[in-house]
Amino acid sequence: RPRVLSGIQPTADSFHLGNYLGALRNWVPMQETHDTFYCVVDLHAITMGHDPALLRKRTRISAAQMLAVGLDPERCTLFVQSHVPEHAQLAWVMNCLTGMGEAGRMVQFKDKSAKQGADRTTVGLFTYPILQAADILLYHADAVPVGEDQRQHLELTRDLAQRFNTTFGRTFTVPQPFIVKDTAKITDLQDPTAKMSKSSSTPNGLIELLEDPARAAKKIRSAVTDTGREIIFDPEHKPGVSNLLTIYSALSGRTIEELVAAYDGKGYGDLKKDLAEVVAEFVKPIQQRTNAYLDDPGQLDKMLAIGAEKARAVAVPTLRSVYDRIGFLAPG
Ligand code: TYM
Repeated sequence: RPRVLSGIQPTADSFHLGNYLGALRNWVPMQETHDTFYCVVDLHAITMGHDPALLRKRTRISAAQMLAVGLDPERCTLFVQSHVPEHAQLAWVMNCLTGMGEAGRMVQFKDKSAKQGADRTTVGLFTYPILQAADILLYHADAVPVGEDQRQHLELTRDLAQRFNTTFGRTFTVPQPFIVKDTAKITDLQDPTAKMSKSSSTPNGLIELLEDPARAAKKIRSAVTDTGREIIFDPEHKPGVSNLLTIYSALSGRTIEELVAAYDGKGYGDLKKDLAEVVAEFVKPIQQRTNAYLDDPGQLDKMLAIGAEKARAVAVPTLRSVYDRIGFLAPG
């Protein structure tokens, strides 16, 4: 089976619909077709400043949501990044293969550091994509299911894999991004040309998996739509309506064409009202299951410990061969 690795940051009290539709949703069926590794990336979560108690809580909430949306620890390897020290160790090696200019060209770094200012931007944020490359390469992943915003980081990962292979001998698989176009960029409900994002969206622009469905309904009702009244799918000229149609289609399983036909002659208000219901029906069972997992943190931690052990069974030999190839003297 081809190998998959992907990760998600525990930086919020809930995942949002962008995370779900762009990434998580695609992780679930891959459990049947791929050898899957899914990771809560807590090392990445400390690159922008954080609160320790909150991080610990959010790491568990993240794992619980991953289970709630359909990841099954019997069929995938679900683990916390810091439980597998080889991630940080391989990241160091990869840091030493990456050019300053190369890392400086990452648009996510440029955006985030511009917002924070140079004095508050950490070196950790600068090397974030290199740690991400290490996450992927440690497991020899063939495919990495992510949203569109991660494409550049995967390009860097591929470049680093190739560079290592040419310099030190074939070691890493060069991974392919797995990006499902239709849902690769869910946009902000208040600013439909920007991506939905926990760091930049306003609370009203973002729908969280764990939020009160009544509150989500309100946000959908006040979503920015476009001039005109027609419900058609045209991301360029009608980004707001098109985003709502994308979400509706993905959550209901109805195609965009079906929805457009069904709403022919109806107004934005009808679409929003029905979408709010679809969202409510979708999040309710996820919320119940998440809460049930969180009710037993001991069990959750045990499950994550088993995941880490399975992950290390792959990560340890990879790092060992890397150390050997780069000329580190094996401990006697
Ligand atoms: P994070 O936690 O920021 O995002 C998790 C996943 O959600 C996707 N995503 C979106 N997809 C569509 N529309 C949106 N509005 C939207 N917002 C977020 C992201 O593309 C991502 O797939 N750097 C990664 C975490 C990471 C990782 C890895 C991923 C660390 N190591 C190794 C893959 C492989 C990130 O952005 O996480």
